[in-house]
Amino acid sequence: MSAKFVINGQNRLVGEIPVQGAKNSALPILAATVLVDGCCEIRDCPDLTDVQATVNILRHLGCRVRREEHCCFVDGSGAVDNPIPERLMHEMRSSIIFLGAILGRFGKAEMFAPGGCEIGLRPIDLHLDAMRKFGAEVLEEHGKIVCECPKGLKGTQITLSFPSVGATENIMLAACRAEGTTTLFNAAREPEISDLADFLNAAGARIQGAGCGEITIEGVRRLHGCAHTVIPDRIVAAGYLAAAAMTGGCIRLTDIIPAHIGPVLPILRDAGCEVEIHARDVTLRAPKRLLAVKNIRTMPYPGFPTDMQAPIMAMTAVARGTTVIVETIFESRYKHVPELARMGANIRVEGRTAVVQGVPTLTGARVTAPDLRGGFSLVLAGLAARGITEISDIRHMERGYEDICKTLSALGADIQRVKDSERDEESRGAFA
Ligand code: UD1
Repeated sequence: MSAKFVINGQNRLVGEIPVQGAKNSALPILAATVLVDGCCEIRDCPDLTDVQATVNILRHLGCRVRREEHCCFVDGSGAVDNPIPERLMHEMRSSIIFLGAILGRFGKAEMFAPGGCEIGLRPIDLHLDAMRKFGAEVLEEHGKIVCECPKGLKGTQITLSFPSVGATENIMLAACRAEGTTTLFNAAREPEISDLADFLNAAGARIQGAGCGEITIEGVRRLHGCAHTVIPDRIVAAGYLAAAAMTGGCIRLTDIIPAHIGPVLPILRDAGCEVEIHARDVTLRAPKRLLAVKNIRTMPYPGFPTDMQAPIMAMTAVARGTTVIVETIFESRYKHVPELARMGANIRVEGRTAVVQGVPTLTGARVTAPDLRGGFSLVLAGLAARGITEISDIRHMERGYEDICKTLSALGADIQRVKDSERDEESRGAFA
């Protein structure tokens, strides 16, 4: 039975919370353990359904995995190149990051294509073209991908036409155990790329330049076990800052790397928030009423992250004035807009542009989470809204946010996770 969040809004968020480990680092790092002949200890692995989906794939591949609170121990010594079935690939769209790791280790990989998802088509052409550059033969048939390179991968030069995060990760993974040196141009520069490189280097890889546009990877024969701590989740951190901003609150986030939320801080400041930055923590004090901000355009890092587009849109929905948002990364990432509109937001979408005319208050309503970040934008709207907001389909949020209720309740929010009763589901059907 599914569950929903029930939020009684307008409590001011006040207090201090630590930030969970980054989902988008933990997933590729866990996939990377397939390349390692030995045991890896991955610390600060968040407790999320996407992490569990990754662990399920690792076990399917013969890796031994043990989870102890936020530590994940993976022994890839006995890994095999089992084809990954559709059921496991579809649990999580980013499972394509296993491609480079399996191909790198075994010279052969077979899996189902992850397909499209809630935020639009998720093409993998850049990933597959890169594998071909390493010398692999790639066959795509009936939704299946078979990559083979019987003579082993050969180091190469690759220029990405777009700095795709997933393609950069797959290339780094495949290149680690390829013969010779690989140079990647126009690589993604997200902090999660550097984190993956740090993990791989700790396991004996030779990667230089991660975090810059040009990455060089010298192939090695084998990788050994190591311990690594996942970086804090910058998207989750920025999301909680937005929550405090929208409720006129004051919060301190600990265990974060402030530079990683650098692209979001000017927007919070433009909205009238006071933001204080220390080595590993950030404090935000919100004004009585937020102000609209300058135009926001989602861009690859170090630009404004697409994953913050929906949460920041919720914030601007209650700011004084008009904010224009342009989504340049994903084609279909405004599914939260009609839901925000049900709560009284005034947002007009034309193509990739959204014009948000701030309103003084939102009102609680029954809404449905359309996807991971869009769902969190509804949580933010619910925290700021007058009255009760019920958000269904919260499984999307449980892919990326650990213990939302516990975290927000610790800051003074009135939020509960409630099992949907069958009657609720029937009545939602009647309204649909
Ligand atoms: C990762 C993040 C996701 C974030 C996104 C952009 C993870 C697990 N997920 O996703 O949260 O929103 O980066 O910062 O880390 N593209 C192609 N062909 C390809 C690959 C990508 O056309 O082969 C396009 C995509 O459709 C999209 C854009 O490139 O429009 C960006 O995608 P990409 O950077 O690859 O995102 P992901 O790695 O899927």
